[in-house]
Amino acid sequence: MLTLGIESSCDDTAVALVENGRRVLSSVVASQSIAHQRTGGVIPEVAAREHLEVIRDTYCQALSEAGLGASAIDAICVTQGPGLMGSLLVGTSFAKGLALALAKPVVPVNHVHAHVYGSLLEYKGDSAALFPALALVVSGGHTHVYAMAHPLDFNLVAESIDDACGECFDKVAKLLGLGYPGGPAIERLAREGSPRLQMPAMMSKPGQEFNFSFSGLKTHMLYLLEKEEQPIVSPRLNDICASFQREAIGQIIRKVAGVSQRFCEYRTVIVAGGVAANGHFRSEIAKLDFTDVILPKLAYCSDNGAMIAALGHAVWQASSEPKLFAELSWEAFARYAERACD
Ligand code: KG4
Ligand code: ZN
Repeated sequence: MLTLGIESSCDDTAVALVENGRRVLSSVVASQSIAHQRTGGVIPEVAAREHLEVIRDTYCQALSEAGLGASAIDAICVTQGPGLMGSLLVGTSFAKGLALALAKPVVPVNHVHAHVYGSLLEYKGDSAALFPALALVVSGGHTHVYAMAHPLDFNLVAESIDDACGECFDKVAKLLGLGYPGGPAIERLAREGSPRLQMPAMMSKPGQEFNFSFSGLKTHMLYLLEKEEQPIVSPRLNDICASFQREAIGQIIRKVAGVSQRFCEYRTVIVAGGVAANGHFRSEIAKLDFTDVILPKLAYCSDNGAMIAALGHAVWQASSEPKLFAELSWEAFARYAERACD
């Protein structure tokens, strides 16, 4: 079965074709990072216009790279949220138009959940055997831990009470004048540095022990950088990046270790999201006491269409009554949503 995945929730227009929810036939990502580098972050109106410019060509390129025509598509999977409303509307409208033209079903997909399926793309073993599993999504918009008793059970057990981890990387990178997205630039500089600077560890409020918080670390960085001699250059810059990275990642590792003690029968952790591309994060999570640590291929860490096609495939297979475009409404879109689109 061939699913088309369309992703346009934030700043990447992405379209992919995936066979049986696992084998990626093509995955095309049109990145907007150049457009957003000028402003050091995503301006929603700019993002929506950029999606409009490129979505058709991105779709055509995905078909041509897979060597297939549109008639081969069995279902059209599209991100329905969470995300930027203008950006989501471009993807969902495109999906609806395509569904009408091809008379194929549309499968609305939750973007955060889809990241978890991005980590299972090209997985060679029996992915059903990985469950029950903890799933950790660490991206620019979310820092979520799910306890998944089975492959479609997204039971949210921990999340950030303020900034997402990737967002914190981006904001600190902006303070350092490193451009957008900030994560890769900080990681690059951190590799040549030593984490010698003291960073504040998050103080957990009672009842919030598993939740994350990155705003204290971000504020600490703001005050620290104000006191530094300007411009901040290597090797000091490298040490600052290494120290920040160690604490940002360290918090996640400590919290996941805590969650795993409570869900001790969950022996697998599936790691997902843009920050999962970070080498320090990948090596630290691998040290935790899990039987299996599933890490995404680097191409599927950041937003992509293949993860949408993969989760869409699973949702569609599990659905007793797949919806055709004519029956699809915003209410239907919300059905699989963890929370309403923001
Ligand atoms: O999952 P994603 O593509 O977008 C969202 O759904 O939010 O994640 C993008 C985020 C950005 O904040 C980016 O700075 C961060 O992932 N990121 C990294 C790295 N690569 C991307 N953070 C730390 N280290 C990296 N190597
Ligand atoms: Zn994402």
